[in-house]
Amino acid sequence: MQSKAIGQAGIELSNVTKRFVTPTGVAMTALRNVNLSVEPGQFCAIVGPTGCGKSTTLTMAAGLDLPSAGTVKVGGRLVDGLTKGAGFVFQADALLPWKSVLTNVALGPIFRGVDKKLAMEEAREWLTTVGLAGFENHYPHQLSGGMRKRVSLAAALINKPSMLLMDEPFSALDVQTRAIMSNELLTLWEKNRPSVMFVTHDLEEAIALADRVVVISAGPGTVKAIFDIDLPRPRGEVQEIRFKPRFLELYQQIWEALREEVERAYSRTATAMKGAA
Ligand SMILES: Nc1ncnc2c1ncn2[C@@H]1O[C@H](COP(=O)(O)OP(=O)(O)O)[C@@H](O)[C@H]1O
Ligand SMILES: [Mg+2]
Repeated sequence: MQSKAIGQAGIELSNVTKRFVTPTGVAMTALRNVNLSVEPGQFCAIVGPTGCGKSTTLTMAAGLDLPSAGTVKVGGRLVDGLTKGAGFVFQADALLPWKSVLTNVALGPIFRGVDKKLAMEEAREWLTTVGLAGFENHYPHQLSGGMRKRVSLAAALINKPSMLLMDEPFSALDVQTRAIMSNELLTLWEKNRPSVMFVTHDLEEAIALADRVVVISAGPGTVKAIFDIDLPRPRGEVQEIRFKPRFLELYQQIWEALREEVERAYSRTATAMKGAA
């Protein structure tokens, strides 16, 4: 079983409930009875209104937090600590500002005990793969947002993750850069096909990238609907696939399910704000 770490690991949440205690001491349920599986090698996008528990779902798949009830399995094994073989890319870049781009990418292998020179060589190759050859000695603040995102991708992929957890990774980027990064992500994903959980609030992005789109309801989050995206792969340019009739059909269907939840979440916030005023 353990030798399956490289390749792809399926992710399975069964009847997962997650409760938190808020800073004011009130217990709240963030997720309720979530059943969700990502097949090995599948690209799964998760959409839902703000606060519905998307990040919490990823956190539990990563093993950074445990469910209050139910189980989370990765590669058939119960998650009870940090999940091995997981790679992360978040909205904020998790790069060390005082280290060069090259060192930032090499950190994963160095922490795993790979010889430093080898790790640096490998990092250099990854930087070339993500289009950043020549920027090895730059520091993160000397790069654009899109370039930093490429560094984050290289830093995640150099560890050959069997599962890639992405939490709104491109949402801070401008529209054009986001499209470019989406295309690059798909190209890179096709190479090793790790299982992916990709959280986004952008439904177009979800459909363009994923094999399956999961809609989570307004909190307490639960799986409202699952849509299989039968657009052929390779998908080609995400900017163009948006105009295909099948894409538009899927968009309409999924938006129908999502809209209700977004409206529900919004009206709750609006009511709460009125109450506070
Ligand atoms: N560590 C925590 N402590 C208390 N409440 C939390 C914690 N993490 C998340 N929550 C709450 O759980 C709910 C879901 O949060 P989150 O998963 O971040 O939502 P999303 O990513 O969908 O916007 C929110 O109401 C949030 O305030
Ligand atoms: Mg979130």
